[in-house]
Amino acid sequence: MKTVIYNIGTLAGILPADVRKLEGAEMNEVECIENAYLVIEDGIITEFGPNVISSDSSVISSDSSVISSEVEKSQHIDAKGGYVMPAFCDSHTHIVYAGCRDGEFRDKIAGLSYEEIAARGGGILNSADLLHETSEDDLYEQSMVRVREIMAMGTGAVEIKSGYGLTVEDELKMLRVIRRIKETAPITVKANFLGAHAVGRAYRGRQAEYVDLVCNEMLPRVAEEGLADFVDVFCDAGFFTVEETDRILAAAAKYGITPKIHANELEVSGGVQVGVKHNALSVDHLEKTTDAEIEALRGSGTMPTMLPGCSFFLGIPYGNAKGYIEAGLPVALASDYNPGSSPSGNMRFVMALGCIRMRLTPEQSFNACTINTAYAMGVSDILGSITVGKKANLIITKPIPSLAFIPYSHQTPIIEKVIIS
Ligand code: NIG
Ligand code: FE
Repeated sequence: MKTVIYNIGTLAGILPADVRKLEGAEMNEVECIENAYLVIEDGIITEFGPNVISSDSSVISSDSSVISSEVEKSQHIDAKGGYVMPAFCDSHTHIVYAGCRDGEFRDKIAGLSYEEIAARGGGILNSADLLHETSEDDLYEQSMVRVREIMAMGTGAVEIKSGYGLTVEDELKMLRVIRRIKETAPITVKANFLGAHAVGRAYRGRQAEYVDLVCNEMLPRVAEEGLADFVDVFCDAGFFTVEETDRILAAAAKYGITPKIHANELEVSGGVQVGVKHNALSVDHLEKTTDAEIEALRGSGTMPTMLPGCSFFLGIPYGNAKGYIEAGLPVALASDYNPGSSPSGNMRFVMALGCIRMRLTPEQSFNACTINTAYAMGVSDILGSITVGKKANLIITKPIPSLAFIPYSHQTPIIEKVIIS
């Protein structure tokens, strides 16, 4: 099946096939073609370039040859002068969860901090209780509502973490739901085992034993069933220490599972350094950063990933994305969609916060939400840019005046169509 998208006002986010991420000044540019066409065959981008449209509306390339010699066999999509860009890749979410935490929202408004809510037995443990009571089928249905929601907002790839199970069986339940989403949702999905998200209720006061459980019981089962692409640890004040993180990542390495880390959300935790030590694909949050984190990341293959939706919702500092880029590092921006600290998976809003609150240029923010998040979930060879050979996960917008309009007018419903493959 061949699809030709024609009458594209601006085709944005073009990259050479060998680019896996953009760093430093490379993030300042978004390559575009004005008045373009793009051809998709069997879900893959096979061709694109500048076009002119003939009077009978057939699509003609700039050298005046008809792009599709088999017009009848192809589907044509008129982009009506809108932008066509790669769909967002959301490299950090917790969208498999049961119910929600709207009660805690009231506590938060009344003035309790994220840590205070957690210390009262709310927070992640509250979600774990709800998940425990929810059947696997129900959890899948509730989660698929969110998958469809983010797709409609332009997300074409998502990483989903466990971490609301916190017992062997409930962590496996979550990961099986993620596997089912992988099998049934059209978008690309990666699974992340986050058994060390919080200490399960039954292990209260016995954190070392809970870490044993993660390493000796959860990880072997997760690996045996092939349920995780990644392993994660919430390495932060009040959650897991650097030593515990080191142990869990060393255990995961025996199964060849690549780490991604939650670090420096609540305090400068040492999580970045232990992540880099274990070749983490990304270290995420980084609301609190010192020069030491920047130095630790330099020369590594680890993507610093910031989650401005979490800063927005919790009212905590935004990560120093600009400082990282000025230091020559790459930066990715993801939604952190979860019930406690970022109940939104709207990547366009993330892109807007990147500009408005982190002072990234629209181009930097665009790259942070596409190619760099694709890297942070290990799919930048197949997603994250307009590149021949990559999957055609694309957004078509209404006609808009510029790339800057996407984050500038961030609540205007500009997405006309989302194409997945
Ligand atoms: O990334 N920080 C840790 N985990 C999530 C929040 C999870 C929750 O509160 O349910 C996060 O913000
Ligand atoms: Fe998170």
